[in-house]
Amino acid sequence: MNRPAMEGLRLNVPAYVQHARLISWVAEIAALTEAAEVCWCDGSDDEYKRLCAQLVKAGTFKKLNPELRPSSYLAWSDPSDVARVEDRTFICSQKKEDAGPTNNWMDPAEMRALLQTGDKALFRGAMRGRTLYVVPFSMGPLGSHIAHIGVELSDSPYVAVNMRTMTRMGRAVLDVLGADGDFVPCVHTVGAPLQPGQKDVAWPCNQTKYIVQYPETREIWSYGSGYGGNALLGKKCFALRIASTMGRGQGWLAEHMLILGVTNPQGRKYHVAAAFPSSCGKTNFSMLVPPQGFEGWKVTTIGDDIAWLKPGADGRLYAINPEAGYFGVAPGTNYKTNPNCMDSLKSDVIFTNVALTDDGDVWWEGMTDTPPAHLIDWQGNDWTPAIAQANAVNGKPRPAAHPNSRFTVAATNNPVLDAEWDNPQGVAIDAFIFGGRRSTTVPLVTEARDWTEGVYMAATMGSETTAAAAGAQGVVRRDPFAMLPFCGYNMSDYFQHWLDMGAKLQTGGAVLPKIYCVNWFRKGADGKFVWPGYGENMRVLQWMLERIEGRGQGDDNAFGISPRYEDLRWDGLPFTREQFASVIGVDGAAWVEELKLHDELFAQLAYHLPTDLSQVKTRIEERLSK
Ligand code: GTP
Ligand code: SPV
Ligand code: MN
Repeated sequence: MNRPAMEGLRLNVPAYVQHARLISWVAEIAALTEAAEVCWCDGSDDEYKRLCAQLVKAGTFKKLNPELRPSSYLAWSDPSDVARVEDRTFICSQKKEDAGPTNNWMDPAEMRALLQTGDKALFRGAMRGRTLYVVPFSMGPLGSHIAHIGVELSDSPYVAVNMRTMTRMGRAVLDVLGADGDFVPCVHTVGAPLQPGQKDVAWPCNQTKYIVQYPETREIWSYGSGYGGNALLGKKCFALRIASTMGRGQGWLAEHMLILGVTNPQGRKYHVAAAFPSSCGKTNFSMLVPPQGFEGWKVTTIGDDIAWLKPGADGRLYAINPEAGYFGVAPGTNYKTNPNCMDSLKSDVIFTNVALTDDGDVWWEGMTDTPPAHLIDWQGNDWTPAIAQANAVNGKPRPAAHPNSRFTVAATNNPVLDAEWDNPQGVAIDAFIFGGRRSTTVPLVTEARDWTEGVYMAATMGSETTAAAAGAQGVVRRDPFAMLPFCGYNMSDYFQHWLDMGAKLQTGGAVLPKIYCVNWFRKGADGKFVWPGYGENMRVLQWMLERIEGRGQGDDNAFGISPRYEDLRWDGLPFTREQFASVIGVDGAAWVEELKLHDELFAQLAYHLPTDLSQVKTRIEERLSK
């Protein structure tokens, strides 16, 4: 095989790499970025340890106390690089209409000039003084017919170690790829070249950021950030933005959904996929511990963030989790809200932007009722409850951990990992759940009367924004299907794709998954959540399963079917009829206002908006006016 040689740079291609197109692409990117060195990641344990040790030496990682948190590390990012940057995320399709009004768009040629080909192209020389890591990864079980392969070229060793936990990464992937297999090329730089002799910083990044997807050529280019979904390109960029476009063309779905298994005391198992916007409870729900009164029930995790769903030969939808780890929200996680998650985090974890305790462990807001007397906060400053109070903003003490601080951990650390989580065939889905974060208006749970009504519920979902994305927080915005920042094509075409998928499955004679809309987040006059949430969400899940079995009762309302007080099981939970009324009730006046927001959304999405959805809206209005 012809292995390109480069002046002044050895590509260090391992003998096991047989893919000529991959090698020449690596050579091309190494030349463009002027990387000092190339390192091919094999995904081994030794390599992981070596890179972690190197990150400790560079000051990016702190090794945590091995007695309290074995084989675990803490990273603090640059304070300007703490979340996804939606305003810097671009879908560069040939035609603007194909990106649609909810995505930032730039002409692909113009973007390429800016990033790659122009005289001042951002990637030119961007890796000077740094090592380029070649990170081959599979989204989905290796060799599964539902899985797809990507290769990320990154100058961040932090990215390389995180990708090892989050995906099936390394040499085994190249074995599947063979000499000419297809892969999605993903190029990433932190955008901080080093001059000879220049000392590096702990978290290199650039004020300028570009997170770019080319859906037609299936390429990803990411510049300037080292954090989360901006930099771990298998996750949002590939498994959602690029994959959603692939799914549209090939008849499948890539969704921002957890996948769980739920087994009743009789041993019957169901599978549920649920879409909640970022930082709205997917990880929590996927690891739910059934509460008192639900002895004999079991919930197991297949995935906590992303689902790929394909129709099977029997006409049902089969889901896999394309990821192999969790990049989960730390704040609010504790032994009461999510004990299984806490148990997952006992060892072999990378923490990012949480606080450091005096004994070399981690802490975040909500981990314990009483915070430690002293901490080092995520920005490296002393933190005490008094300092936090003195620096309060709007009455809220300054947090020790960033609100979007996260952990990276392997799925295999999860004590309730589903036995089928790695099954290349996936699991058959019985129900979809959609749920935003809404203090008012949206009821605890509503069942759609049919697929189209369910698509309407998902399409018009609103949610208060969270710290997962840079920008204002707590503002209600429409977040269709929890996919607003992640849909790789025109949102109206995406709605149509969902309608088409339903129609196609139905023609095959299969029973379609039921669709539900939930809201765990309604608040009372005191500003507190009324619904206890977390494990208690099992009560809502159990009602859904009863409905699927054709036994559960409910009341028709303007939008669908909701349970009455007596339709849910309350054993073990003191929750009054009045409290229930305040989370399930439909306030006619509030809904008239809500529907105006649906109007705004539909006006924005008028191009290609399926007429079926407008018809559902008309029916809701008619019922409301009665
Ligand atoms: P991404 O990883 O950003 O996509 O988010 P996620 O949906 O996996 O979010 P996660 O499960 O980590 O939720 C984080 C936030 O939701 C924390 O603030 C939790 O305390 C809160 N949360 C989760 N479940 C519930 C619930 O049932 N009720 C209430 N009130 N809050 C919840
Ligand atoms: C989200 O924001 O939905 C996440 C975290 O899951 S990140 O990977 O940073 O996008
Ligand atoms: Mn997510």
